[in-house]
Amino acid sequence: MKAKIQTSNVLTKPNYKQKRMIYEYREKIKKKTEQTVKEKLDTDKWPDWWGAKGTKNRFQDAMLNLNNAPLKFLISKNNKEPKIMLLGTGQGLDIFKYKSEFAKHNIVPSFDVFSLHKELAEEVNANKLVNKDYSLGLPFEQINPKIESHSELILNTKGKYDLVMAQMSVGKYTEHLSTTLFNAALLLKKGGKAYIQIEIDPRDFKTEQSKVKLNRASKTWVIFNRLVEWINKTENKKYVFKIKTSTQANLNENDWLEITRIS
Ligand SMILES: C[S@@+](CC[C@H](N)C(=O)[O-])C[C@H]1O[C@@H](n2cnc3c(N)ncnc32)[C@H](O)[C@@H]1O
Repeated sequence: MKAKIQTSNVLTKPNYKQKRMIYEYREKIKKKTEQTVKEKLDTDKWPDWWGAKGTKNRFQDAMLNLNNAPLKFLISKNNKEPKIMLLGTGQGLDIFKYKSEFAKHNIVPSFDVFSLHKELAEEVNANKLVNKDYSLGLPFEQINPKIESHSELILNTKGKYDLVMAQMSVGKYTEHLSTTLFNAALLLKKGGKAYIQIEIDPRDFKTEQSKVKLNRASKTWVIFNRLVEWINKTENKKYVFKIKTSTQANLNENDWLEITRIS
């Protein structure tokens, strides 16, 4: 079966099998992810040479990778005061750059962040660059509306953002990309966009080079679509999202997905 790249969702009633699948999937996440993420992401142990921890240069890296798509998007919307969520921002020093570069276009965003832990650099906190740090010591893909302690986070963040950025973070360090994409999609306002850097090669979505990889990619879309169907049904919503892989020529392992909330 060919993987769908652009996907829209129609309101359908999840059947018993689908509900069961979502339940089992969430249970699996609980067990596996915490362990994986903890092992990979103890930021205190990162060596100094490791640059991808939210240092200032990371802004340019993202914009270069994305051919300035996030900035162009905000300019095209004439959105002068966008709300931005940075997922897995690490130290958050790149926010200085976001601010200064966006200011050149008279764009004055407000930033919220969600990382595994509260790990913003002192300089970032001292300069009050971040409106709210929602980090809870919780992997992003484990956010679950059914857990009471998560509900405040969901209430405050769902459908609130014009732009969501996840550079080398929640889309990479996860065994559950579909849930990550789903949770990121839910943060968006109507018309908003999320840019999520992923680990798997986006070419897997387009070719049949590897059956295993292709299965993994198409499974990602199937589960994503089911999660959207599920929330549409349970919350009586009509969410529609479109997901695009990068259009860059130099696709590589660390490429990006763009999610647009259509409705
Ligand atoms: C390698 S650092 C990248 C920091 C910054 N975005 C950059 O590109 O320089 C990974 C960041 O993602 C966060 N992170 C990784 N996986 C995560 C997950 N599953 N849920 C929440 N945060 C996660 C970590 O807490 C950390 O802030």
